[in-house]
Parts: sequence; structure tokens; C-alpha cells
Amino acid sequence: MEARKTLNFGMIGHKFMGKAHSHALRDVNMFFDTGVDVRMHTLCGIGDDLEQTARAYGWENCETDWRKVVNDPQIDVISICSPGVTHMEVAVAAAKAGKHVICEKPLAMSAEEAKQMCDAVTAGGVKHMINFCYRRVPAVTLAKQLLDSGKIGRVTQFRATYQQDWVDEDCPFVWRFDKAIAGAGSMADKGSHVIDLARYLVGEIAETAAMSDIFIPTHKDPVTGEAKLVTTDDAAMFLTRFTNGVMGVFQTSRVSPGYKNALRFEVTGTCGTIRFDLERLNELELYCMEEDKTAMGFKTIVVTEPVHPYIKSWWPLGHVLGWEHAFVHQYYELIKAITSGTYCAPDFYDGLQNMRVIDAVERAADTKTWVTV
Ligand SMILES: NC(=O)c1ccc[n+]([C@@H]2O[C@H](COP(=O)([O-])OP(=O)(O)OC[C@H]3O[C@@H](n4cnc5c(N)ncnc54)[C@H](O)[C@@H]3O)[C@@H](O)[C@H]2O)c1
Repeated sequence: MEARKTLNFGMIGHKFMGKAHSHALRDVNMFFDTGVDVRMHTLCGIGDDLEQTARAYGWENCETDWRKVVNDPQIDVISICSPGVTHMEVAVAAAKAGKHVICEKPLAMSAEEAKQMCDAVTAGGVKHMINFCYRRVPAVTLAKQLLDSGKIGRVTQFRATYQQDWVDEDCPFVWRFDKAIAGAGSMADKGSHVIDLARYLVGEIAETAAMSDIFIPTHKDPVTGEAKLVTTDDAAMFLTRFTNGVMGVFQTSRVSPGYKNALRFEVTGTCGTIRFDLERLNELELYCMEEDKTAMGFKTIVVTEPVHPYIKSWWPLGHVLGWEHAFVHQYYELIKAITSGTYCAPDFYDGLQNMRVIDAVERAADTKTWVTV
């Protein structure tokens, strides 16, 4: 009998996303049959807690220099879970070393950088994925299936909001406030997710008009206590026209009191509407004009049935899923693509197109004009 293959992973970043990705790697083979063993080879990060964190997450080794991880001949796949400013350098080096890559969003600091990353993974002939994890929330995948089946007719309008409230006057300065490290603010951090969902569900965005603002211009450096200037937006709003004619409207914010992780979208068609709210992620709302007029209204589909995407691999019906499960689904899709040689989405080209939209939104806000993507 042929020995089962092992995929060795290296991960750059050991904090928020490092934990979410590590959890996914630990769970993926317990619930999905990837056909290979997953080995959590080396975790890379900066900080005194690295060794203890690596042990807690289940990694065999830890390392502070990402170059050593990327060039380790034993490692097959690199997961990039570090801030945006590091993505291009790590991904290009990984692709040159022949490693498959999964990278956090937004893909890069600009569309130019994202293009270099696409060129590198294409030249390296490696699999590449961007972690737009919300495509893999079962209710969102179901929304895509319903749209593709024509359930709400021809799509005419798309609306998405992604609001959080982690920023206030007392919040210490973090890298997300620094354009040189983060790229952009809520427009890219939150915006990249909703732009991806728009592209996934509706189509390509052709043009945009936008505005953005910084409401709290400084935050205290947690070490020196000095006030540091914020160079990324706290909130952005933008209108879009899709290439297929659909009208779109978006709002992103990290200063929306009461909204914790409120990613919401509505897709409206000629004979129905689909609504989703990440804070109620096991549900999808559907209004369908084809239904019996006496009982017409929005209905809530509880997306926990074995017929729903990914569900039969989890728990008996009705046993709800959480935010982290989407990451497990992403890794399942990535590993399947690596082992079977098939296409895996969303890939770096999705990340590039996403960056082109973000760049256009930023230019539109700066110039107060409509900008073509
Ligand atoms: N998909 C999602 O839902 C989601 C959610 C949050 C963040 N993100 C994205 O994930 C990425 C990381 O965000 P985070 O919230 O985990 O940040 P974080 O600050 O919690 O962690 C950053 C990690 O990167 C490491 N790091 C930074 N520079 C490094 C370097 N030069 N070499 C090695 N390690 C380095 C740090 O040590 C730390 O472990 C960002 O691109 C962010 O936009 C995605």
C-alpha cells in the first residue's frame, strides 16, 4: 500500500490570524478527508511568547526569521498571517522556493505589489490562495448557489456594510493605524472582505465614487505614551457600478459603536432578495416572489442541514457553526487543490483584482471623482 503523503506547513504570524489558521490546520483532517497528513512544522513570529504559543497551537518548531521558514526544504506550504507590509516579500520568496502559499487579506499594499505576487506564484507553478474566508461560511456559499440558480432573478442591486467598534479615543496606537504597515484603513481591512463578496456574488466592479475620513486623528503609543498620527481611514463609503450594470453601495467602519463584527450584505434581484449578517452566520434570509402570495415575506433559512455547503462534515443537523469554521473550509479547499492539482479559489488573481478596486476607491476618495477600476 502506498504511504499516505504529508504536507508540511510553515506559518508567518502567531497572533490573531496565526491562531485562527493554526486552529484550522489542527481541525481540518478531523472533519474533512483531505487525503494527506497535515504537519504543523514551523511557526514564525516576533515576540517573547513565540515558543509557548507554538507549543499551545500544536507546532513542532518555532522561528523568528521568516526567510529560514520559507527556505526550509522540508516545508511545502507557507501561510502568511502577518501585516500587509510583509505579504509581498514573503509570498514572492515562498513562490521562488517552490512553496504553495495562502496569504491573508488584503493581498498587498497596492495593486502593483499584488501583480508581482501573481507573477511570482504563476512563474513558480505553485498553488495560491487568499484568505477571503467569508466565501466559506456555509450561508454565504448557499447565497452564491441560490443566486446562480436564478432564485431571485436578475440581480439589480448590491449593498454591503462592514462595521466594527474596536477604535475609540482610549484605543492605543496599533499597526492598523499606520499606512506604511497596513496599506489602508477600514477601506482595505474591512473593505477587502466585502469587495470580495461583491465580486463572488455579483461580478466585477467597473467604477466607483467614494469618501473616507479619520475621526480620531491620534492614538497614544503604548510604550512611549506619545500621541501618534493616524494615517489610515476610520471609515469609508463608496458607490459602485458593476460591469454587468448592477448598482452597489458599501460602508466600512472601525468606529461604529455597537457593531462588533457586523459584515452584512443584501443582494436584490428582479424577483427576490437575499440578506446575510455575519453576527448571525448560521442564517440566510430569502425573499422570493415566486412563493405563495398569502404567506410571502422574508424567510430565515437555518443553514445547518446536511444539504447545505460543508455541513455534513460537521455535527448532526442543527448544531451550529462559528466564525472559525470558515477557516477550516478554506484549508480544506487549499489542500484539495494542492493534492489534486485543481484550481483553488479565491486565488492571488482575486486578491489582485480586489486591490485594484481598493486602489480605485482610495483614488476616488482623494479626487472626489468617479474612478474606473
Ligand atoms: N481573514 C480575516 O478575517 C482577517 C482578520 C484579521 C486580520 N486579517 C489579516 O491578517 C493579517 C495579520 O493580522 P493579525 O490581526 O493576525 O495581526 P496581529 O498583529 O495579531 O499579528 C501579526 C503577526 O505577524 C507577526 N509579524 C509581523 N512582522 C513580522 C515579520 N517581519 N516576521 C515574522 N513575523 C512577523 C507578528 O509577530 C504577529 O505574530 C493582516 O493582513 C490582516 O489584515 C484577516
